[in-house]
Amino acid sequence: MNKMAPIDSIQGTNIVIDTGWGDSGKGKIVDVLSGTADLVVRFNGGPNAGHTVVNEYGQFKFHLIPTGIFNPKTISILAATVAIDPLTLTEEIQNLRGKGIEISPRNLIISRYAHLIMPWHIARDTLREVARANKKVGTTGRGIGPLFADRTERVGLRVGDLLNPNFDQLLLRELDWNQRLVQLMDTEDPSTYNDLLSKQKILADIHAAQLVLAPMIANPQPVIWDAQDKGQNILGEGAQGMLLDLDLGTYPYVTSSHPGLTGFSMATGLHQVDIQRVIGVTKAYQTRVGEGPMPTELMGELGETLRRVGHEYGATTGRPRRCGWLDLPALRYSIRIGGVNTIALTKLDVLDQISPINICTHYEVDGQRYQVLPTADAGFMSAAKPVFKTMPGWNKQIIGIKKFAALPPNAQNYVKEIEKSINVPIEIISNGPAREEIIYRNNI
Ligand code: GDP
Ligand code: IMO
Ligand code: MG
Repeated sequence: MNKMAPIDSIQGTNIVIDTGWGDSGKGKIVDVLSGTADLVVRFNGGPNAGHTVVNEYGQFKFHLIPTGIFNPKTISILAATVAIDPLTLTEEIQNLRGKGIEISPRNLIISRYAHLIMPWHIARDTLREVARANKKVGTTGRGIGPLFADRTERVGLRVGDLLNPNFDQLLLRELDWNQRLVQLMDTEDPSTYNDLLSKQKILADIHAAQLVLAPMIANPQPVIWDAQDKGQNILGEGAQGMLLDLDLGTYPYVTSSHPGLTGFSMATGLHQVDIQRVIGVTKAYQTRVGEGPMPTELMGELGETLRRVGHEYGATTGRPRRCGWLDLPALRYSIRIGGVNTIALTKLDVLDQISPINICTHYEVDGQRYQVLPTADAGFMSAAKPVFKTMPGWNKQIIGIKKFAALPPNAQNYVKEIEKSINVPIEIISNGPAREEIIYRNNI
């Protein structure tokens, strides 16, 4: 990794990833940094993501469109590794256009090699969750697992197929297979999915989407290489979080893609040697939505308070997020597996009125002490007993503060304590949802 630019801008290739279970505020950080990006690449997940941006255009919750779309000079790319729901994407494009934001082949490329989420993936996702009952994953119900399973099985439709004159035939063949599959899965009421899998409706919806999406479908690789050869700035926008990584997360309570550096490399063909910064976005406390272990979860009133003050409800599903204290063993693990070399600490303002504040410094499992999670495997993590350090809060509003030195001393101490414990600089602090509510540590 080369010499670094000041953190309020990007230089070369940088990626933004989430060190937790998602929803750390990646959308906000990408929005801030994309002002200096020539390319922004969404590289994993699909419409399970909900990235909130609050800027001069209003409030947006992006599921697929890369957050760099606001910068008129940026080209936004949806890589081949992103699961595309053509209806969600079409709706997002239409909404943004309605608000006066340009979306055209000039500033959006949808990889022709990305896979299409179709209504049958959504039906299968829901059916599997019902069948798993108390062992369910708590998915977003967006068809992510079945889509990536099909991709691995090498079946299904890709974005480029939308341009095929025989697309309807390809679609009807897939629909037929999937109708049979769904019928086999649904033991209770086969009619439940008839609406979702109605041939007429699927064709009508997809024809409308084809018209909107077709001009932006292309192979983004030459554009990525060209930007790299010209020394332009490339920003990767990760979805989900390191602890939801298919292989390295809290399996089986994970998503079906790779939210870190590996995912970015798979998507772009750019590798660690090409990357200046891996920016880990870390919430000042912990949250999780869906099932699975969460050692520092607060079940009582304090958890409710964090949820209320932090508006911790899913940007995609509206589900309440589980809240707890910051988990350093998990953070150290994510930094290590994610190749993170700088941190953006978000939502510090949510702790304004909370005192004292706990931080989980290590776990105890079977009498052993773990400073770094050795595996995120759900079984191991469920057995982990968090051990906390208690720090005084600051009882002051910090929104609007622009300089680190102007933060209340206890807020500074909280940040420094985390920094010291992880040995990675915290170069950005976010103290409010809006674009300008941000503190750059180099802004002394
Ligand atoms: P993402 O999926 O990582 O982009 O995060 P989400 O958008 O799902 O959730 C983050 C939520 O926190 C959104 O509602 C943001 O508007 C909000 N947010 C981001 N940064 C801050 C911050 O520093 N302070 C506060 N109070 N809210 C923030
Ligand atoms: P962003 O990008 C938080 C969680 C789901 C579930 C698990 C599997 O906004 O941070 P899936 O639908 O992917 O099969 O669900 O992953 N999950 C997220 N949690 N933020 C996200 O995205 C998430 N995307 C998936 O809640 O536990
Ligand atoms: Mg989110």
